[in-house]
Amino acid sequence: MLEPIEALLDRLCAVVPDYPEPGISFKDLTPVFADAEGLRRIVDALAAPFEGRFDAVAGMEARGFLLASAVAYATGTGLLTVRKGGKLPREVFCRDYELEYGTASLEIHQDALHPGARVLLIDDVLATGGTMEAAASLVEQAGGAVAGVAVVLELEALAGREKLAGREVVSLQRV
Ligand code: PRP
Repeated sequence: MLEPIEALLDRLCAVVPDYPEPGISFKDLTPVFADAEGLRRIVDALAAPFEGRFDAVAGMEARGFLLASAVAYATGTGLLTVRKGGKLPREVFCRDYELEYGTASLEIHQDALHPGARVLLIDDVLATGGTMEAAASLVEQAGGAVAGVAVVLELEALAGREKLAGREVVSLQRV
């Protein structure tokens, strides 16, 4: 029988106690990415709920790029890069978003999307939802429609899903 995706994540994730600060138990996904079956299973599981409902995949810098790129390749769609401020070379739309301390910004090229393109947003982790909500706003500002949001881990205590109310959010594991 196929191993359930949550069991696979439990088996392959490295749990790091007291990182990045005391009391936090950090789930490190890099061993999942490094495992051939693990990578294939999470890429397929991120795309499957949205099959046939998106024309492009957007990944958030940096860890989101790893998964979004694989999902785009696996589904025969294009890849959009939502980058941190100051990295893209042409005209951009920009959104500021809240971090635990201070703010950061995300950008997308103004001409990144075909008008009306349906975009699946992919990231490794949904925490406060600030990154994902900024990215969703940018896709819409660039003329696209958000088909949905797919992440591997959802940190429920940080309530990112609430910030994305009204959007379809899929996470492979809630922790
Ligand atoms: C992490 C993670 C998500 C974001 C989630 O990225 O990869 O993109 O935080 O947090 P949020 O829901 O509270 O916005 P980070 O900003 O650490 O950048 P990185 O991928 O470059 O490490």
